[in-house]
Amino acid sequence: NHLSVIGVPMDLGQMRRGVDMGPSAIRYAGMIERLEELKYVIDDLGDIDIPRPERNQSEKLDNLRNLNEVAEGSHRLAVEVDKVVEKGRFPLVLGGDHSIAMGTLAGIAKHYENLGVIWYDAHGDLNTGDSSPSGNIHGMPLAVSLGIGHEKLTNILDYQPKIKPENVVIVGARSLDEGERVLIEEKGMKVFTMHEVDSMGMPKVMEETIQYLKDRTDGVHLSLDLDGLDPNEAPGVGTPVMGGLSYRESHLAMEMLYQSQMITSAEFVEVNPILDEKNKTASVAVGLMGSLFGEKLK
Ligand code: ARG
Ligand code: MN
Ligand code: MN
Ligand code: MN
Repeated sequence: NHLSVIGVPMDLGQMRRGVDMGPSAIRYAGMIERLEELKYVIDDLGDIDIPRPERNQSEKLDNLRNLNEVAEGSHRLAVEVDKVVEKGRFPLVLGGDHSIAMGTLAGIAKHYENLGVIWYDAHGDLNTGDSSPSGNIHGMPLAVSLGIGHEKLTNILDYQPKIKPENVVIVGARSLDEGERVLIEEKGMKVFTMHEVDSMGMPKVMEETIQYLKDRTDGVHLSLDLDGLDPNEAPGVGTPVMGGLSYRESHLAMEMLYQSQMITSAEFVEVNPILDEKNKTASVAVGLMGSLFGEKLK
């Protein structure tokens, strides 16, 4: 019942400033108190120091915007996450844009034979510099963690790949680029798009997700991008996509994950308070953490 919190004020994986204030917004929304209420001992390790971009913020190397700074920031995060897992504590990472997931996973995956990942997101984040329509690295961390992409990103902590494609489940996808579809097909990855959520219902989607990962993994990381939710309920995100997961579906998903007792690490990313309405999206994130960590009555 020890949670180690790490903030990552990273906004260089995409073009809208403000997501670097995500960790503050989430803490301000009462995260620590909420989790202490559930009898966890919280160790807030503060924020990772993110390098400033050297020259022009929009400079792109190989269609990888801010490559060196994003790689270095994720490397620093990976080192801290590694220490947390080493100590046997649960890492809870606060973003920052989703590029940081490559650092989180680098720190965690070396401790597991078969780490599972639940990618709760409107997007696949399976692009590479070659397939990306934007050059934004926050659209690439899942590919990078599979060992696909620029060496500076795939080789964080000097090993790769971090995870296997068959150990990943994507939930909530509704905006996939062409290259991402090809990769999903090629690797046979498990994806519950909004189509499946609508036709099967969230209870069935999560039951299948949990059963699937239980059979093949020895730990499961939850990477939750707030844009997985509908923008009406989580407006403070940089790349909103209509028709998303509802607040209630998301709480149910978190409660089912709590009941499964399978989650061994988590991150909540893409909260951008500048684009938000009175810190609503950070509050939603904190509420979801409450459910993930057992708030529901027996
Ligand atoms: N697929 C788009 C891209 O590569 C959007 C990615 C959005 N990613 C995110 N983590 N919000 O640019
Ligand atoms: Mn900044
Ligand atoms: Mn997304
Ligand atoms: Mn994402």
